[in-house]
Amino acid sequence: MSTATLSLDGKEYELSVVVGTEGEKGIDIARFRAESGAIMLDPGYGNTGSCESGITFINGEQGILRHRGYSIEDLAEKSSFVEVAYLLVYGNLPSTEELNRFGYRLTHHSMLHEDMKKFFEGFPPSAHPMSVLSTMAASLSTYYPDGDDEDDVDLNVVRLLAKLKTIAAFSHKKSIGHPYVYPRNDLGYVGDFMHMMFAVPTETYEVDPLVRDALDMLLVLHADHEQNCSTSTVRMVGSSGADLFSTISAGISALSGPLHGGANQAVIQMLEGIRADGGDYNKYIEKAKDRDDPFRLMGFGHRVYKNFDPRARIIKKTADKILSAIGLDDPLLDIAKNLERIALSDPYFEERRLYPNVDFYSGILYRAMGIPTNMFTVLFAMGRLPGWIAQWKEMRDQKSRIHRPRQIYIGETARPYVQIEDRG
Ligand code: CMC
Repeated sequence: MSTATLSLDGKEYELSVVVGTEGEKGIDIARFRAESGAIMLDPGYGNTGSCESGITFINGEQGILRHRGYSIEDLAEKSSFVEVAYLLVYGNLPSTEELNRFGYRLTHHSMLHEDMKKFFEGFPPSAHPMSVLSTMAASLSTYYPDGDDEDDVDLNVVRLLAKLKTIAAFSHKKSIGHPYVYPRNDLGYVGDFMHMMFAVPTETYEVDPLVRDALDMLLVLHADHEQNCSTSTVRMVGSSGADLFSTISAGISALSGPLHGGANQAVIQMLEGIRADGGDYNKYIEKAKDRDDPFRLMGFGHRVYKNFDPRARIIKKTADKILSAIGLDDPLLDIAKNLERIALSDPYFEERRLYPNVDFYSGILYRAMGIPTNMFTVLFAMGRLPGWIAQWKEMRDQKSRIHRPRQIYIGETARPYVQIEDRG
């Protein structure tokens, strides 16, 4: 085993080096404070490994993303969301029998307890579907408490995967004042979601296979992304022993922010803003480069990818295909392509290695599918769910300690308490 030597205050410390299966190196500092009294400071955790994981591998320099060893390109082209969910949660691609049984279970747990509809009634119509989603995900723990053994845990995993799409669709129906559409067992995971989203009691609804397959692929592309903000939240909250549903609810909340999953909604709002402002994208490139202007090019940049985001490449290709198949000419796609073209040849973006990320083109596809903008991040959450669950399970199996970072205190040093009448 190789080691690293760190010297502090004239003393040398030998630290063991952990090497992953893809050759990544990490210096194990778990006992460093006990031996030296010092901690490592890394605000934003850009250089901190919080765990060892066998689920997802990313090489951001080369634009590689693999789940359990399978490339995202292969999974997007050849697999399905339900199969990828199985792969992430259970570790291997399923046999036909395993996939059928998993699909059957996801189908047969998709109804919500009727009483849960009353929760939806309590939300104002203006409620953002992401807030509804996290609230409702947490509320599942009141119906399905932690069980005693691994079969109970597995049942709750299946319940969550099955019911989150029903909650997602109900949150949309609530926001537009339409009646809830109950799940149907004959439509498959994504087809059933589309049916619950778009069907109304007054008409028959046919699932468009082209849209269904594109949506399935989008969910595959979002299925996991190692230790990002929401997944780290899931591991953090789960490490306290909180139940699965509360833990995932915390992950959904973390995802909702515009710097994370909320970026897909923000991209469309940005493109619409540029269009309404006369389509002058150069002006917005300049705004993004101006340090005094808080404006950022949404859907650009990534903490890990520094050459390209492989998911964005796949989505961009699909966006062209789907839009021409649907016969939709979305002016936002042109603005998006122009922004990308200009940004990629601009030294500001080149030097900082800022490329379009997964959120840049996904919104255009969701729009083409008729999905309203406030549901985009909900779709991201549905896609990310198997990843969160897999990471939560792995964290439990590793018997991880409670996550508890330290800090360097920079506040006042000790001072005497001042009575209120003596304060100036
Ligand atoms: N537009 C303009 N400048 C940017 C952008 C952007 N989108 N992203 C980063 N920069 C600049 C930033 O100002 C900084 O410049 P300087 O070195 O002069 O201070 C430099 O690039 C490095 O940026 P950073 O903020 O230190 O990078 P980070 O790794 O902390 O943040 C990020 C990553 C994704 C939050 C950020 O790039 C960003 O805000 N992007 C826009 C929001 C977005 O699209 N988020 C979705 C992320 S992908 C999907 C997901 O996983 O959720």
